[in-house]
Amino acid sequence: MTTDPDESLPGGVTPTPGRRTAGVPRSIEWTPRETLRVIDQRALPAQVIRRELSSVEEVIDAISTLAVRGANSIGAAGAFGFALGVRGGGDAEEVASAVAGARPTAVALRHGVDDALAAYRRGGSWRDSVGVGVSLLATDENDCARIGEFGRIETRGARRILTHCNTGILATAGIGTALGIVYTKAAAGEDIQVYSTESRPLRQGLRLTVWELQQAGIPVTALVDSAAAALLHSGQIDVVLVGADRIAANGDTANKVGTFSLALAARDAGVPFYVVAPVSAVDPAALDGDAIPIELRGAEEVLAIGPDSPRPDTDVWNPSFDVTPARLLTGIITERGVVRAPFRTGLAQVLGNAE
Ligand code: MRU
Repeated sequence: MTTDPDESLPGGVTPTPGRRTAGVPRSIEWTPRETLRVIDQRALPAQVIRRELSSVEEVIDAISTLAVRGANSIGAAGAFGFALGVRGGGDAEEVASAVAGARPTAVALRHGVDDALAAYRRGGSWRDSVGVGVSLLATDENDCARIGEFGRIETRGARRILTHCNTGILATAGIGTALGIVYTKAAAGEDIQVYSTESRPLRQGLRLTVWELQQAGIPVTALVDSAAAALLHSGQIDVVLVGADRIAANGDTANKVGTFSLALAARDAGVPFYVVAPVSAVDPAALDGDAIPIELRGAEEVLAIGPDSPRPDTDVWNPSFDVTPARLLTGIITERGVVRAPFRTGLAQVLGNAE
């Protein structure tokens, strides 16, 4: 792995043509040197560090430590990781299961690895799996743009937006999902104000979403997770937009822990609550939320808060995600349109599985 702290960033970043936001570099790219380059999200916002990953072990480490994160990005990273593992002489089945196991909740990782394995079996070369990763990045960029447009239309008139975790450029190959709607609204000249939760314990909202929006010049207010219910009840929020790591066939949705509490509070306050994700986040094999595997992470993420941390042997429950029941969703905004209740039928339709 090579590390390249890019001191010219963020001010000197050249925006990719066609993208609507300057100042946030692409979070994941396949390089001409046949390595996977990621922005190390553990170091943001203090430092923008690029890492070049050239082995499957490095990719698995980057995914499991959240150097690369966000469901969409880890899907593509999984395909590239598989390719690097096979290039390195690994057994295809073993490499696939090691990469897919790096984070269990995002179905995109499973899809990315399975597609890369299938392409390798068909074509016989690790470069066939690289092709899968490259095409996942292109599809994701396009999906994010379409989601942004559908979301802009759906949320017309909603000015004050509450979001959770990070679903933007850092989490995808494009402008993002829930944050993609924010960027699209801003690009259309809407006067918006974003409220970003902290998203404990790894603070993706406070560290990443706040940074992305500041780079784009979009007004953003940060709040601790426990302030969200009061904010929703204060009448200061018009809409809640969150991402998804896996959507069950009935619409129950796994997303960053704390999403469920936001949905409950939004329902009580009468604020519309949307899940925003590509159709590929739907897992038809998971009939409902109980079938979604929820990643449990280490105690140290919760306990390491500085010099006043509790004893390191303190017992901790640290689920990375929770499941929001479909009954709390106003809709699911996808690249194929907005799905509404009854979600089982609507999701089957967008998946093309409708009877
Ligand atoms: O643990 P993370 O940071 O990978 O969690 C990210 C989220 O929960 C996002 O909402 C989700 O992956 C969608 S990203 C477009």
